[in-house]
Amino acid sequence: MNEKSGYLMPKSSLNDQPAMQGNGFYNENSDLQKAGIDQFIPIWRDLVESINLGANDAIIADYASSQGKNSLSPINIAVDSILSKNPKPTCISVIHIDLPSNDFSSLFETIKKNNNSYLNNHSNIFPFAVGRSYFDQILPSDSVDIGWNSWSLQWLNATPANIDDHIFIDCTEIINLKNLFSRQLALDWEQFLRCRSKELKIGGKLMTIFIASSSHASGWGPFWNEFWLTLLELRNFELLSDKELTLISLPIGIRSIEDIKQPFNKNNIFANLKLENLNIIDAPDPFWEEYQITSDPKAYGLKWANMAKAVAGPMISNVLNTTQNSKCPLNDIFTRFADRLSSNPFKVKHSLACVVVEKIN
Ligand SMILES: C[S@@+](CC[C@H](N)C(=O)[O-])C[C@H]1O[C@@H](n2cnc3c(N)ncnc32)[C@H](O)[C@@H]1O
Repeated sequence: MNEKSGYLMPKSSLNDQPAMQGNGFYNENSDLQKAGIDQFIPIWRDLVESINLGANDAIIADYASSQGKNSLSPINIAVDSILSKNPKPTCISVIHIDLPSNDFSSLFETIKKNNNSYLNNHSNIFPFAVGRSYFDQILPSDSVDIGWNSWSLQWLNATPANIDDHIFIDCTEIINLKNLFSRQLALDWEQFLRCRSKELKIGGKLMTIFIASSSHASGWGPFWNEFWLTLLELRNFELLSDKELTLISLPIGIRSIEDIKQPFNKNNIFANLKLENLNIIDAPDPFWEEYQITSDPKAYGLKWANMAKAVAGPMISNVLNTTQNSKCPLNDIFTRFADRLSSNPFKVKHSLACVVVEKIN
């Protein structure tokens, strides 16, 4: 039961977080995420160069692959590094992991057809996919040489509650809710690390990139606030109900550098994982940068709204389906959001954390 509003949220809906917008929509609208990943490629190169493969076979795990496009560059870099150090034919398994509701058809199409696919020009490389949550151990113990994970750990394993007065936890006035989300973030971080520790070989390494907070960037609040104002407008036109407004809550949270360090406070080690690198950077806003060149506010608004639809569309669709007889089609919400953003373009000042860990024993 949601205490403030009294709306009953089915337990399954609260806990079953949907994947990204399907039919390749996330692939087509994830340039923001790609721009963030690109910032950390030098750290990733160093990581893969430092891995010593005991045998000729290697396993690369791609945790939260979504539809695969943004995984291709990092996996190519890992594959090239492994092959350059191992002159004998090496068998490399690439395991893509995501939630059961992920659009795995688009993932396999991408691996098969994208010009940047790691299958091009290489033999003895075998892609696999696993449709399970990474908050469980999902690969055999001591099997993974290199782990990649980007833009997913802000999604909570379980949504603690609906956010009654906003869509985004950083913008709520309800302190108790903030505490519930913070607690879940801490539990999830430790659980993710524990599970990866089981799966990594000794000497294996994992890099994870996720949304973080920093003292000098405003973060995602201003962006999601524009979305919230769009929803309020739709409610004022009686196109969305109060109930729908309450149920539309982003199941995400943002960690600070202290939150990220917390499990490693003793000797820089947690669950046999040594913290090797931790960076928080100001991440790029490629749509704002493009707008500086084109002065095209419509393109700016559309790109940002499509990014939001790619990540939040399925959650909102679930709410509209749950409430039934919804008067507002999903596309109308995002068209209105695009118009709103176009009318007042601004730079989204957000931050990303990059963490590298090594399994030590
Ligand atoms: C924003 S996408 C990131 C995709 C890609 N890694 C990138 O950087 O563009 C987040 C992905 O995390 C996945 N995800 C969220 N929670 C997950 C979990 N518990 N287990 C596995 N995947 C999860 C979502 O389904 C989604 O595909």
